Amino acid sequence: MKIAVLGTGMVGQAIAGRFAELGHDVTVGTRDVDATLGKTAPDRMGNPAFATWVATRPDVRLATFAEAAAGSELLVNATNGSVSIDALRTVDDADLAGKVLIDIANPLDYSQGFPPTLFVKDTDSLGEQIQAAFPELKVVKALNTLTAPLMANPAQLTAEHSVFVAGNDADAKRTVGDILASFGHTDVIDVGDISSARGTEMYLPLWLRLMGALNTPYFNVKVVR
Ligand SMILES: NC(=O)c1ccc[n+]([C@@H]2O[C@H](COP(=O)([O-])OP(=O)(O)OC[C@H]3O[C@@H](n4cnc5c(N)ncnc54)[C@H](OP(=O)(O)O)[C@@H]3O)[C@@H](O)[C@H]2O)c1
Repeated sequence: MKIAVLGTGMVGQAIAGRFAELGHDVTVGTRDVDATLGKTAPDRMGNPAFATWVATRPDVRLATFAEAAAGSELLVNATNGSVSIDALRTVDDADLAGKVLIDIANPLDYSQGFPPTLFVKDTDSLGEQIQAAFPELKVVKALNTLTAPLMANPAQLTAEHSVFVAGNDADAKRTVGDILASFGHTDVIDVGDISSARGTEMYLPLWLRLMGALNTPYFNVKVVR
C-alpha cells in the first residue's frame, strides 16, 4: 500500500519504519525537506534526528506534507497535536478525499511545563476536531496510548496488551485493525465513534504519571474481561 506518514518525530520514524519493513511504499511528510535533512542533533530525549534515522532507511522517502499525501492510499497523522490541523491544511483537499487517516496525535499543551495539560478534553477531542475540519477524511484514532516503539513493535512487551480504535467509519476501523494486527497487536478494541477519542486522549494524564512512577515508557495496559 502507498502510505503517507505525516510527521518526522519518534512516532513518524517508528511507524514509517514498520510499514517499510512490512513491504509498504512509505513517504514521510515534513514542512521543509531541506530543513529536516539539515538537522542532525538528537532531540531532548536523545532520539536520533530524522536525517540520521532515514540515512539508515533507504526504503523510506521524505517529502512535504502535501507531496507525501498526494497519491497515497492511507495517511498517518504523527504531527505535534497542537499543529496537526495546520499540517493537514497544507494538503490538497483532493489528496484527502475518501482516505483513511490514522490519527496518533495527542492534544498536549506544554505551555505551563511538565506534566502537560490537554488543550481539548471532556466534551471534545483532537480526533473529533480533525474529523470536523476534514469531513472528507475517515479519521481513526489509534495508537496514541503507548510509546512509539511499542506502537510499531508490540512484541517488545512479553505479555499481551491492548490498543484502541475510535472512528465513525466501520470499514476504516477494520482497515486500521488489520494494520495493527500486521504490526503484531493482538487485542485491538473498537471503543466506538470518533467521540471515543475523548477517552483515549484523556488517558494521557494517567499514562504520563505511570511513566514517572515506573521510570520507563515501555509499558501498556491490558483490558482484562
Ligand atoms: N512520542 C511518543 O511516543 C508518542 C506516543 C503517543 C502519541 N504521540 C503523539 O504523536 C505525535 C507525534 O509525536 P512525536 O514525538 O513523534 O513528534 P512531535 O515532536 O510531537 O511532532 C513532530 C512533528 O510535528 C511537526 N510540526 C511541529 N510544528 C509544526 C508546525 N508549526 N506546523 C506543522 N507541523 C509541525 C514537525 O514537522 P517537521 O517535520 O517539519 O519538523 C514534525 O513532523 C504527537 O501528537 C504526540 O503527542 C507521541
